[in-house]
Amino acid sequence: AVAANHKPTRLAFDMVKATTADTITLPKGYKWDVLVSWGDPLWSNAPTLNTATGGTGASQELAFGDNNDGMAFFNANGRYVMAINNEYVNPKTLHANREDGVPMTADDVRKNKAAHGVSIMEVAKRGGKWNVVQDSMYNRRITADTEMEITGPARGHDLVKTSADPEGVLAKGTWNNCGQGQTPWGTYLTCEENFNSYFAASDGSYKVPAELKRYGVSAKTGRYKWEMADERFDLSKEPNEPNRFGYIVEIDPMNPNARPKKRTALGRFKHENAEVTIAANGHVVVYLGDDERGEFLYRFVSKGKYQVGGDNSELLSEGTLYVAKFHENNKGEWLALTPETTGMTEADIAIHTRLAASKVGATTMDRPEWVAANPNKVEAYCCLTNNKNRGVKPNAGGDETPAVGPNPRVKNKFGQIVRWEPMNEDHTAAKFDWDLFVLAGNPAVFDDAYAGSANVNKDNMFNSPDGLKFDRNGLLWIQTDGNYSNEGDFAGQGNNQMLVADTETGEIKRFMVGPTKCEVTGAAWSADHTTMFVSIQHPGGTWPTGSTPLSSVIAISREDGEMIV
Ligand code: FEO
Ligand code: CA
Ligand code: CA
Ligand code: CA
Repeated sequence: AVAANHKPTRLAFDMVKATTADTITLPKGYKWDVLVSWGDPLWSNAPTLNTATGGTGASQELAFGDNNDGMAFFNANGRYVMAINNEYVNPKTLHANREDGVPMTADDVRKNKAAHGVSIMEVAKRGGKWNVVQDSMYNRRITADTEMEITGPARGHDLVKTSADPEGVLAKGTWNNCGQGQTPWGTYLTCEENFNSYFAASDGSYKVPAELKRYGVSAKTGRYKWEMADERFDLSKEPNEPNRFGYIVEIDPMNPNARPKKRTALGRFKHENAEVTIAANGHVVVYLGDDERGEFLYRFVSKGKYQVGGDNSELLSEGTLYVAKFHENNKGEWLALTPETTGMTEADIAIHTRLAASKVGATTMDRPEWVAANPNKVEAYCCLTNNKNRGVKPNAGGDETPAVGPNPRVKNKFGQIVRWEPMNEDHTAAKFDWDLFVLAGNPAVFDDAYAGSANVNKDNMFNSPDGLKFDRNGLLWIQTDGNYSNEGDFAGQGNNQMLVADTETGEIKRFMVGPTKCEVTGAAWSADHTTMFVSIQHPGGTWPTGSTPLSSVIAISREDGEMIV
Protein backbone atom coordinates (compact mmCIF):
# COMPACT_ATOMS: atom_id res chain seq x y z
CA ALA A 1 0.00 0.00 0.00
CA VAL A 2 1.18 3.53 -0.70
CA ALA A 3 0.12 6.78 0.91
CA ALA A 4 -3.29 7.91 -0.27
CA ASN A 5 -3.17 11.39 -1.77
CA HIS A 6 -6.63 12.64 -0.96
CA LYS A 7 -6.93 11.88 2.75
CA PRO A 8 -5.52 14.26 5.37
CA THR A 9 -2.43 12.62 6.88
CA ARG A 10 -2.63 11.31 10.44
CA LEU A 11 1.10 11.97 10.71
CA ALA A 12 0.80 15.70 11.34
CA PHE A 13 4.42 16.76 11.88
CA ASP A 14 7.33 17.86 9.72
CA MET A 15 9.40 14.83 8.85
CA VAL A 16 12.91 14.81 10.31
CA LYS A 17 15.74 14.51 7.79
CA ALA A 18 18.28 11.68 8.10
CA THR A 19 21.32 12.92 9.99
CA THR A 20 24.57 11.79 11.62
CA ALA A 21 24.35 14.46 14.34
CA ASP A 22 25.39 13.22 17.78
CA THR A 23 22.13 14.22 19.45
CA ILE A 24 18.39 13.57 19.48
CA THR A 25 16.74 15.17 16.45
CA LEU A 26 12.96 15.70 16.58
CA PRO A 27 10.35 17.50 14.45
CA LYS A 28 9.78 21.20 14.99
CA GLY A 29 7.65 21.77 18.09
CA TYR A 30 8.96 18.73 19.99
CA LYS A 31 11.55 18.53 22.78
CA TRP A 32 13.38 15.87 24.77
CA ASP A 33 14.90 15.38 28.21
CA VAL A 34 16.88 12.54 29.72
CA LEU A 35 14.72 10.65 32.24
CA VAL A 36 17.42 8.28 33.48
CA SER A 37 20.86 7.07 32.42
CA TRP A 38 23.01 4.09 33.29
CA GLY A 39 24.37 4.45 36.83
CA ASP A 40 21.77 6.92 38.14
CA PRO A 41 21.05 5.96 41.79
CA LEU A 42 17.50 4.72 42.50
CA TRP A 43 18.10 5.18 46.22
CA SER A 44 19.56 8.22 47.96
CA ASN A 45 22.08 6.14 49.94
CA ALA A 46 23.83 5.10 46.72
CA PRO A 47 26.96 6.97 45.65
CA THR A 48 26.71 9.07 42.49
CA LEU A 49 28.22 7.36 39.48
CA ASN A 50 31.99 7.63 39.17
CA THR A 51 32.51 7.56 35.40
CA ALA A 52 36.30 7.22 35.85
CA THR A 53 35.87 3.75 37.38
CA GLY A 54 32.32 2.79 36.40
CA GLY A 55 31.50 2.31 40.09
CA THR A 56 31.46 -0.91 42.10
CA GLY A 57 29.20 -3.94 42.54
CA ALA A 58 27.61 -2.28 45.57
CA SER A 59 26.91 1.01 43.75
CA GLN A 60 25.52 -0.73 40.67
CA GLU A 61 23.07 -2.80 42.74
CA LEU A 62 21.46 0.49 43.85
CA ALA A 63 21.51 2.15 40.43
CA PHE A 64 19.82 2.05 37.03
CA GLY A 65 21.28 -0.75 34.87
CA ASP A 66 23.04 -0.43 31.52
CA ASN A 67 21.80 -0.67 27.91
CA ASN A 68 18.14 0.07 28.57
CA ASP A 69 15.84 -1.57 26.01
CA GLY A 70 12.11 -2.46 26.19
CA MET A 71 10.00 -0.70 28.83
CA ALA A 72 6.47 -0.23 30.12
CA PHE A 73 4.63 2.48 32.03
CA PHE A 74 2.23 1.52 34.82
CA ASN A 75 -0.46 3.70 36.36
CA ALA A 76 -1.19 2.78 39.98
CA ASN A 77 -3.89 5.10 41.28
CA GLY A 78 -2.05 8.20 40.18
CA ARG A 79 1.44 6.91 41.00
CA TYR A 80 3.48 5.99 37.99
CA VAL A 81 5.94 3.13 37.83
CA MET A 82 8.20 2.20 34.94
CA ALA A 83 9.83 -1.18 34.36
CA ILE A 84 12.79 -1.04 31.96
CA ASN A 85 15.02 -3.82 30.66
CA ASN A 86 18.79 -3.56 30.97
CA GLU A 87 19.82 -5.87 28.17
CA TYR A 88 23.61 -6.06 28.40
CA VAL A 89 26.53 -3.74 29.20
CA ASN A 90 29.08 -1.42 27.62
CA PRO A 91 32.27 -2.90 29.12
CA LYS A 92 34.52 0.07 28.40
CA THR A 93 32.37 2.43 30.45
CA LEU A 94 31.12 -0.09 33.04
CA HIS A 95 34.68 -1.30 33.66
CA ALA A 96 36.41 2.01 32.92
CA ASN A 97 39.13 1.09 35.46
CA ARG A 98 40.08 -2.11 33.59
CA GLU A 99 42.12 -2.51 30.45
CA ASP A 100 39.75 -2.69 27.46
CA GLY A 101 36.84 -3.06 29.90
CA VAL A 102 37.63 -6.69 30.72
CA PRO A 103 36.32 -7.83 34.15
CA MET A 104 39.20 -8.95 36.39
CA THR A 105 37.82 -9.46 39.89
CA ALA A 106 34.80 -10.95 41.65
CA ASP A 107 33.53 -7.41 42.26
CA ASP A 108 33.78 -6.65 38.54
CA VAL A 109 31.55 -9.67 37.90
CA ARG A 110 29.16 -8.58 40.68
CA LYS A 111 28.91 -5.14 39.05
CA ASN A 112 28.48 -6.60 35.59
CA LYS A 113 25.66 -8.92 36.73
CA ALA A 114 23.95 -6.03 38.55
CA ALA A 115 24.07 -3.82 35.44
CA HIS A 116 21.91 -6.47 33.69
CA GLY A 117 18.27 -7.34 34.30
CA VAL A 118 15.39 -4.96 34.93
CA SER A 119 15.15 -1.58 36.68
CA ILE A 120 11.80 -0.77 38.26
CA MET A 121 11.25 2.75 39.51
CA GLU A 122 8.57 5.25 40.36
CA VAL A 123 8.56 8.34 38.12
CA ALA A 124 6.86 11.69 38.67
CA LYS A 125 6.51 14.90 36.68
CA ARG A 126 7.73 18.00 38.51
CA GLY A 127 8.05 21.41 36.93
CA GLY A 128 7.21 19.98 33.52
CA LYS A 129 9.95 17.32 33.67
CA TRP A 130 9.74 13.61 34.44
CA ASN A 131 12.13 12.40 37.16
CA VAL A 132 12.92 9.18 38.98
CA VAL A 133 11.47 9.16 42.51
CA GLN A 134 14.44 8.06 44.60
CA ASP A 135 13.67 5.79 47.58
CA SER A 136 10.14 5.01 46.34
CA MET A 137 8.72 1.81 47.83
CA TYR A 138 8.31 0.58 44.24
CA ASN A 139 11.98 0.93 43.28
CA ARG A 140 13.61 -2.40 42.63
CA ARG A 141 16.58 -3.86 40.84
CA ILE A 142 16.22 -7.29 39.31
CA THR A 143 19.61 -8.66 38.29
CA ALA A 144 21.35 -11.82 37.15
CA ASP A 145 21.16 -13.03 40.77
CA THR A 146 17.48 -12.39 41.66
CA GLU A 147 15.52 -15.52 42.66
CA MET A 148 12.72 -16.49 40.26
CA GLU A 149 10.13 -19.24 40.27
CA ILE A 150 10.20 -21.69 37.36
CA THR A 151 6.55 -22.22 36.32
CA GLY A 152 4.85 -24.19 33.56
CA PRO A 153 5.80 -27.45 31.84
CA ALA A 154 9.56 -27.24 32.54
CA ARG A 155 9.11 -26.82 36.31
CA GLY A 156 10.79 -29.68 38.16
CA HIS A 157 12.09 -31.36 34.98
CA ASP A 158 15.46 -33.13 35.23
CA LEU A 159 16.92 -30.77 32.59
CA VAL A 160 16.41 -27.70 34.82
CA LYS A 161 17.83 -29.27 38.02
CA THR A 162 21.19 -27.99 39.28
CA SER A 163 23.25 -28.56 42.41
CA ALA A 164 21.93 -25.30 43.90
CA ASP A 165 18.35 -26.17 42.94
CA PRO A 166 17.92 -29.98 42.99
CA GLU A 167 14.14 -29.61 42.63
CA GLY A 168 14.36 -27.54 39.40
CA VAL A 169 11.93 -24.90 40.61
CA LEU A 170 13.97 -21.82 41.50
CA ALA A 171 16.28 -20.10 38.99
CA LYS A 172 18.59 -17.24 39.75
CA GLY A 173 18.42 -14.15 37.64
CA THR A 174 17.60 -12.94 34.17
CA TRP A 175 19.85 -11.29 31.61
CA ASN A 176 20.00 -10.10 28.04
CA ASN A 177 16.41 -8.96 28.30
CA CYS A 178 15.55 -7.28 25.07
CA GLY A 179 11.93 -6.49 24.31
CA GLN A 180 9.04 -6.72 26.73
CA GLY A 181 5.34 -7.15 27.14
CA GLN A 182 2.64 -5.75 29.37
CA THR A 183 -0.45 -7.64 30.48
CA PRO A 184 -3.93 -6.18 31.00
CA TRP A 185 -3.73 -7.51 34.58
CA GLY A 186 -0.85 -5.13 35.35
CA THR A 187 2.29 -7.24 35.08
CA TYR A 188 5.50 -6.73 33.15
CA LEU A 189 6.97 -9.34 30.84
CA THR A 190 10.72 -9.30 30.31
CA CYS A 191 12.20 -11.38 27.50
CA GLU A 192 15.45 -13.33 27.76
CA GLU A 193 17.24 -13.11 24.42
CA ASN A 194 20.95 -13.89 23.92
CA PHE A 195 21.30 -15.80 27.20
CA ASN A 196 23.69 -18.31 25.62
CA SER A 197 26.89 -16.30 25.49
CA TYR A 198 27.24 -16.01 29.29
CA PHE A 199 28.37 -19.63 29.77
CA ALA A 200 31.78 -21.28 29.41
CA ALA A 201 33.45 -24.61 30.26
CA SER A 202 36.60 -24.91 32.39
CA ASP A 203 37.05 -28.60 31.52
CA GLY A 204 38.54 -28.95 28.04
CA SER A 205 36.90 -32.36 27.59
CA TYR A 206 33.38 -30.91 27.98
CA LYS A 207 31.39 -31.32 24.76
CA VAL A 208 28.45 -28.98 24.13
CA PRO A 209 25.39 -31.16 23.40
CA ALA A 210 23.49 -30.56 20.14
CA GLU A 211 20.44 -29.24 22.04
CA LEU A 212 22.58 -26.43 23.49
CA LYS A 213 24.45 -25.80 20.22
CA ARG A 214 21.13 -25.00 18.58
CA TYR A 215 20.92 -22.11 21.07
CA GLY A 216 24.47 -20.96 20.42
CA VAL A 217 25.89 -22.15 23.77
CA SER A 218 29.65 -22.68 23.49
CA ALA A 219 32.48 -23.82 25.79
CA LYS A 220 34.56 -20.71 25.06
CA THR A 221 35.12 -17.88 27.57
CA GLY A 222 31.86 -16.21 28.57
CA ARG A 223 30.93 -12.81 27.21
CA TYR A 224 31.79 -11.06 30.50
CA LYS A 225 33.65 -13.89 32.30
CA TRP A 226 30.95 -14.52 34.88
CA GLU A 227 32.28 -18.09 35.18
CA MET A 228 35.37 -16.58 36.82
CA ALA A 229 33.36 -15.75 39.96
CA ASP A 230 30.28 -17.98 39.80
CA GLU A 231 30.45 -21.73 39.08
CA ARG A 232 26.91 -21.91 37.73
CA PHE A 233 28.24 -20.35 34.53
CA ASP A 234 30.75 -23.19 34.12
CA LEU A 235 29.07 -25.74 31.86
CA SER A 236 31.41 -28.54 32.94
CA LYS A 237 30.17 -28.08 36.53
CA GLU A 238 26.54 -27.08 35.91
CA PRO A 239 25.53 -28.48 32.51
CA ASN A 240 21.80 -27.76 33.07
CA GLU A 241 22.14 -24.10 34.02
CA PRO A 242 21.56 -22.81 30.42
CA ASN A 243 18.23 -24.70 30.31
CA ARG A 244 16.94 -22.28 32.93
CA PHE A 245 17.28 -19.24 30.63
CA GLY A 246 15.71 -18.18 27.36
CA TYR A 247 12.23 -17.66 28.81
CA ILE A 248 9.63 -14.96 29.28
CA VAL A 249 9.65 -13.71 32.88
CA GLU A 250 6.52 -12.20 34.47
CA ILE A 251 7.05 -9.51 37.11
CA ASP A 252 4.56 -7.68 39.34
CA PRO A 253 5.97 -4.14 39.27
CA MET A 254 3.70 -3.04 42.14
CA ASN A 255 4.99 -5.63 44.58
CA PRO A 256 8.76 -5.33 45.06
CA ASN A 257 8.75 -8.48 47.22
CA ALA A 258 7.04 -10.72 44.66
CA ARG A 259 9.28 -13.33 43.08
CA PRO A 260 9.41 -13.01 39.28
CA LYS A 261 8.03 -16.05 37.45
CA LYS A 262 9.68 -17.74 34.48
CA ARG A 263 6.86 -18.69 32.11
CA THR A 264 8.21 -21.80 30.41
CA ALA A 265 4.86 -22.43 28.66
CA LEU A 266 5.84 -19.56 26.32
CA GLY A 267 8.85 -21.53 25.08
CA ARG A 268 12.60 -21.24 25.25
CA PHE A 269 14.41 -19.36 22.52
CA LYS A 270 16.08 -15.99 21.93
CA HIS A 271 12.98 -14.04 22.88
CA GLU A 272 12.59 -10.58 21.44
CA ASN A 273 9.33 -9.26 22.90
CA ALA A 274 6.02 -10.67 24.13
CA GLU A 275 3.05 -8.91 22.54
CA VAL A 276 -0.04 -9.63 24.61
CA THR A 277 -3.55 -9.33 23.25
CA ILE A 278 -6.87 -10.70 24.44
CA ALA A 279 -8.72 -12.63 21.72
CA ALA A 280 -12.43 -12.07 21.22
CA ASN A 281 -13.09 -15.42 22.95
CA GLY A 282 -11.19 -14.30 26.08
CA HIS A 283 -8.04 -16.37 25.66
CA VAL A 284 -4.75 -14.56 26.13
CA VAL A 285 -2.65 -14.55 22.96
CA VAL A 286 1.05 -13.72 23.15
CA TYR A 287 3.04 -13.27 19.95
CA LEU A 288 6.75 -14.04 20.27
CA GLY A 289 9.71 -13.64 17.90
CA ASP A 290 12.92 -15.69 18.08
CA ASP A 291 15.63 -13.28 16.97
CA GLU A 292 18.11 -15.40 15.09
CA ARG A 293 18.68 -15.94 11.40
CA GLY A 294 16.52 -18.83 10.24
CA GLU A 295 14.50 -19.17 13.45
CA PHE A 296 10.76 -18.75 13.90
CA LEU A 297 7.74 -16.68 14.87
CA TYR A 298 5.54 -18.10 17.66
CA ARG A 299 2.10 -17.66 19.24
CA PHE A 300 1.01 -18.72 22.73
CA VAL A 301 -2.70 -19.22 23.49
CA SER A 302 -3.63 -19.51 27.17
CA LYS A 303 -5.73 -22.42 28.43
CA GLY A 304 -7.70 -20.15 30.71
CA LYS A 305 -9.58 -16.98 29.82
CA TYR A 306 -8.95 -13.43 30.91
CA GLN A 307 -11.51 -12.08 33.35
CA VAL A 308 -11.72 -8.36 33.96
CA GLY A 309 -11.19 -7.86 37.68
CA GLY A 310 -10.61 -11.59 38.20
CA ASP A 311 -7.47 -13.49 39.22
CA ASN A 312 -5.46 -13.65 36.00
CA SER A 313 -2.13 -14.25 37.71
CA GLU A 314 -1.51 -17.78 36.38
CA LEU A 315 -2.87 -17.41 32.82
CA LEU A 316 0.64 -17.63 31.38
CA SER A 317 1.51 -20.87 33.16
CA GLU A 318 -0.58 -23.11 30.92
CA GLY A 319 -1.55 -23.06 27.25
CA THR A 320 -0.52 -24.11 23.77
CA LEU A 321 2.46 -22.84 21.82
CA TYR A 322 2.19 -22.52 18.02
CA VAL A 323 4.74 -21.69 15.35
CA ALA A 324 4.06 -19.87 12.08
CA LYS A 325 4.06 -21.47 8.65
CA PHE A 326 3.80 -18.98 5.79
CA HIS A 327 2.64 -20.19 2.39
CA GLU A 328 3.45 -18.53 -0.93
CA ASN A 329 -0.13 -17.47 -1.67
CA ASN A 330 -0.28 -14.93 1.19
CA LYS A 331 -1.96 -17.53 3.38
CA GLY A 332 -0.49 -18.90 6.58
CA GLU A 333 -1.21 -21.19 9.50
CA TRP A 334 -0.24 -21.71 13.12
CA LEU A 335 1.18 -25.17 13.78
CA ALA A 336 0.59 -26.41 17.33
CA LEU A 337 3.59 -27.73 19.25
CA THR A 338 2.12 -30.66 21.19
CA PRO A 339 3.25 -34.18 22.15
CA GLU A 340 1.15 -35.44 19.19
CA THR A 341 2.69 -33.15 16.57
CA THR A 342 6.29 -33.32 17.82
CA GLY A 343 6.70 -36.67 19.62
CA MET A 344 8.20 -34.67 22.49
CA THR A 345 6.89 -34.26 26.04
CA GLU A 346 5.38 -30.93 27.08
CA ALA A 347 8.45 -30.22 29.20
CA ASP A 348 10.73 -31.03 26.28
CA ILE A 349 8.77 -28.69 24.00
CA ALA A 350 9.09 -25.91 26.61
CA ILE A 351 12.86 -26.41 26.95
CA HIS A 352 13.82 -27.36 23.38
CA THR A 353 11.29 -25.21 21.60
CA ARG A 354 13.47 -24.60 18.53
CA LEU A 355 13.81 -28.35 17.97
CA ALA A 356 10.04 -28.82 18.31
CA ALA A 357 9.37 -26.05 15.78
CA SER A 358 11.82 -27.61 13.31
CA LYS A 359 9.97 -30.94 13.61
CA VAL A 360 6.66 -29.47 12.45
CA GLY A 361 8.20 -27.65 9.47
CA ALA A 362 7.76 -24.00 10.48
CA THR A 363 8.94 -21.20 8.17
CA THR A 364 12.50 -20.00 8.80
CA MET A 365 12.53 -16.22 9.12
CA ASP A 366 14.80 -13.20 8.68
CA ARG A 367 15.36 -12.65 12.44
CA PRO A 368 11.93 -11.94 13.97
CA GLU A 369 12.28 -8.96 16.31
CA TRP A 370 9.33 -7.12 17.94
CA VAL A 371 5.71 -8.03 17.24
CA ALA A 372 2.96 -5.42 17.63
CA ALA A 373 -0.80 -6.06 17.63
CA ASN A 374 -3.08 -3.28 16.38
CA PRO A 375 -5.37 -2.09 19.21
CA ASN A 376 -8.00 -0.97 16.65
CA LYS A 377 -8.06 -3.97 14.34
CA VAL A 378 -7.45 -7.73 14.59
CA GLU A 379 -4.02 -7.86 12.97
CA ALA A 380 -0.37 -7.95 13.99
CA TYR A 381 3.03 -6.94 12.61
CA CYS A 382 6.56 -8.28 13.09
CA CYS A 383 9.91 -6.70 12.23
CA LEU A 384 12.16 -9.10 10.30
CA THR A 385 15.24 -7.05 10.92
CA ASN A 386 17.72 -8.36 8.31
CA ASN A 387 19.46 -11.54 7.26
CA LYS A 388 22.83 -11.50 5.61
CA ASN A 389 23.04 -15.31 5.61
CA ARG A 390 19.66 -16.24 4.18
CA GLY A 391 20.07 -19.10 1.74
CA VAL A 392 23.73 -19.41 2.74
CA LYS A 393 23.88 -21.41 5.95
CA PRO A 394 21.37 -22.53 8.55
CA ASN A 395 21.70 -21.77 12.26
CA ALA A 396 23.55 -24.61 14.11
CA GLY A 397 21.31 -27.67 13.84
CA GLY A 398 18.62 -25.53 12.26
CA ASP A 399 16.86 -25.63 8.92
CA GLU A 400 17.58 -24.47 5.39
CA THR A 401 16.60 -20.85 4.86
CA PRO A 402 15.35 -20.34 1.31
CA ALA A 403 14.29 -16.84 0.22
CA VAL A 404 10.53 -17.38 0.14
CA GLY A 405 7.28 -16.00 1.53
CA PRO A 406 7.71 -13.06 3.90
CA ASN A 407 11.53 -13.38 3.54
CA PRO A 408 11.82 -12.75 -0.19
CA ARG A 409 15.32 -11.29 -0.59
CA VAL A 410 18.42 -13.52 -0.50
CA LYS A 411 20.87 -10.92 0.85
CA ASN A 412 18.55 -9.04 3.11
CA LYS A 413 20.53 -6.08 4.43
CA PHE A 414 17.57 -3.81 5.01
CA GLY A 415 14.79 -5.85 6.62
CA GLN A 416 11.01 -5.82 6.30
CA ILE A 417 7.81 -5.82 8.33
CA VAL A 418 5.31 -8.64 7.84
CA ARG A 419 1.63 -8.21 8.72
CA TRP A 420 -0.94 -10.93 9.36
CA GLU A 421 -4.69 -10.84 9.72
CA PRO A 422 -6.13 -13.80 11.65
CA MET A 423 -9.13 -15.57 10.08
CA ASN A 424 -12.54 -14.43 11.33
CA GLU A 425 -10.98 -11.58 13.32
CA ASP A 426 -9.87 -14.18 15.88
CA HIS A 427 -6.31 -14.11 17.26
CA THR A 428 -6.72 -17.78 18.28
CA ALA A 429 -7.68 -18.90 14.72
CA ALA A 430 -5.57 -21.58 13.05
CA LYS A 431 -5.15 -19.62 9.80
CA PHE A 432 -4.25 -16.12 8.68
CA ASP A 433 -3.65 -13.96 5.64
CA TRP A 434 -0.33 -12.13 5.40
CA ASP A 435 1.40 -9.44 3.38
CA LEU A 436 4.49 -7.28 3.66
CA PHE A 437 3.66 -3.89 5.14
CA VAL A 438 7.04 -2.52 4.13
CA LEU A 439 10.27 -3.74 2.58
CA ALA A 440 13.02 -1.41 3.74
CA GLY A 441 15.67 -0.47 1.21
CA ASN A 442 17.70 2.29 -0.31
CA PRO A 443 16.06 3.84 -3.40
CA ALA A 444 18.99 6.29 -3.66
CA VAL A 445 21.36 3.40 -4.40
CA PHE A 446 19.22 0.59 -5.86
CA ASP A 447 16.45 0.36 -8.40
CA ASP A 448 15.65 -3.33 -7.81
CA ALA A 449 14.15 -5.18 -4.82
CA TYR A 450 16.77 -3.53 -2.59
CA ALA A 451 15.18 -0.14 -3.22
CA GLY A 452 12.35 -1.27 -0.94
CA SER A 453 8.58 -1.18 -1.31
CA ALA A 454 6.51 1.70 -2.74
CA ASN A 455 6.06 3.34 0.69
CA VAL A 456 9.84 3.77 1.04
CA ASN A 457 11.46 6.76 -0.63
CA LYS A 458 14.66 8.82 -0.47
CA ASP A 459 13.17 10.97 2.30
CA ASN A 460 11.89 8.32 4.75
CA MET A 461 14.28 5.42 4.12
CA PHE A 462 15.77 3.33 6.93
CA ASN A 463 17.29 -0.10 7.56
CA SER A 464 16.90 -2.91 10.10
CA PRO A 465 13.52 -2.28 11.72
CA ASP A 466 13.60 -3.79 15.24
CA GLY A 467 11.47 -2.10 17.93
CA LEU A 468 7.77 -1.96 17.02
CA LYS A 469 4.83 -0.69 19.03
CA PHE A 470 1.35 0.64 18.46
CA ASP A 471 0.31 3.66 20.45
CA ARG A 472 -3.22 3.84 21.81
CA ASN A 473 -4.37 5.75 18.72
CA GLY A 474 -3.30 2.91 16.46
CA LEU A 475 -0.22 4.52 14.94
CA LEU A 476 2.70 2.14 14.49
CA TRP A 477 6.11 3.24 15.79
CA ILE A 478 9.15 1.66 14.13
CA GLN A 479 12.64 1.79 15.70
CA THR A 480 15.86 0.77 14.00
CA ASP A 481 18.98 -1.15 15.04
CA GLY A 482 20.94 -1.18 11.86
CA ASN A 483 23.84 0.08 9.83
CA TYR A 484 24.58 3.74 10.71
CA SER A 485 27.61 4.16 8.41
CA ASN A 486 25.61 6.51 6.17
CA GLU A 487 27.65 5.24 3.22
CA GLY A 488 27.61 2.60 0.48
CA ASP A 489 24.34 0.64 0.52
CA PHE A 490 23.27 2.76 3.51
CA ALA A 491 24.18 6.18 2.05
CA GLY A 492 21.70 8.85 3.11
CA GLN A 493 20.15 6.82 5.95
CA GLY A 494 22.03 8.50 8.82
CA ASN A 495 21.99 7.28 12.41
CA ASN A 496 19.48 4.81 13.84
CA GLN A 497 16.04 6.33 14.05
CA MET A 498 12.36 6.11 14.91
CA LEU A 499 9.58 6.40 12.37
CA VAL A 500 5.82 6.29 12.64
CA ALA A 501 3.42 4.65 10.22
CA ASP A 502 -0.25 4.89 9.39
CA THR A 503 -1.00 1.23 8.70
CA GLU A 504 -4.21 2.06 6.84
CA THR A 505 -2.53 4.21 4.18
CA GLY A 506 1.00 2.74 4.37
CA GLU A 507 2.47 6.19 4.95
CA ILE A 508 5.73 6.19 6.95
CA LYS A 509 7.44 9.31 8.33
CA ARG A 510 10.71 9.70 10.22
CA PHE A 511 9.98 11.19 13.66
CA MET A 512 13.34 11.01 15.41
CA VAL A 513 17.01 10.36 14.74
CA GLY A 514 19.20 9.07 17.58
CA PRO A 515 22.78 10.05 18.45
CA THR A 516 25.99 8.52 17.01
CA LYS A 517 26.20 4.70 16.91
CA CYS A 518 23.16 4.16 19.13
CA GLU A 519 20.26 1.81 18.64
CA VAL A 520 16.76 3.19 19.17
CA THR A 521 14.60 0.67 20.99
CA GLY A 522 11.71 0.34 23.42
CA ALA A 523 8.85 2.78 23.85
CA ALA A 524 6.19 3.66 26.39
CA TRP A 525 3.71 6.50 26.84
CA SER A 526 2.65 8.43 29.91
CA ALA A 527 -0.93 7.85 31.05
CA ASP A 528 -2.09 11.12 29.39
CA HIS A 529 -0.14 10.39 26.18
CA THR A 530 1.69 13.71 26.30
CA THR A 531 5.08 12.06 26.85
CA MET A 532 6.69 9.29 24.85
CA PHE A 533 9.60 7.47 26.51
CA VAL A 534 12.23 5.92 24.24
CA SER A 535 15.42 3.93 24.93
CA ILE A 536 18.68 5.13 23.45
CA GLN A 537 20.95 2.11 23.73
CA HIS A 538 24.74 1.99 23.46
CA PRO A 539 25.33 5.52 22.09
CA GLY A 540 28.93 5.75 20.86
CA GLY A 541 29.78 9.43 20.59
CA THR A 542 29.64 11.82 23.53
CA TRP A 543 25.85 12.00 23.99
CA PRO A 544 24.30 12.80 26.44
CA THR A 545 27.03 14.13 28.76
CA GLY A 546 29.32 15.83 26.24
CA SER A 547 32.01 13.32 27.23
CA THR A 548 31.14 9.74 28.35
CA PRO A 549 28.32 8.20 26.25
CA LEU A 550 25.56 6.77 28.49
CA SER A 551 22.63 4.56 27.57
CA SER A 552 19.57 6.56 28.59
CA VAL A 553 15.81 6.72 28.50
CA ILE A 554 14.53 9.97 27.02
CA ALA A 555 11.17 11.65 27.50
CA ILE A 556 9.78 13.27 24.33
CA SER A 557 6.97 15.83 24.51
CA ARG A 558 5.46 18.66 22.54
CA GLU A 559 6.44 22.20 23.38
CA ASP A 560 2.74 23.10 23.59
CA GLY A 561 2.09 20.20 26.01
CA GLU A 562 -0.44 18.54 23.68
CA MET A 563 -0.51 14.82 22.99
CA ILE A 564 2.28 13.19 20.95
CA VAL A 565 1.24 13.18 17.25
FE1 FEO B 1 18.17 -7.47 21.58
FE2 FEO B 1 16.83 -8.86 18.94
O1 FEO B 1 17.42 -7.44 19.85
CA1 CA C 1 19.73 -4.00 21.64
CA1 CA D 1 15.92 -5.62 19.47
CA1 CA E 1 18.32 -5.86 16.50
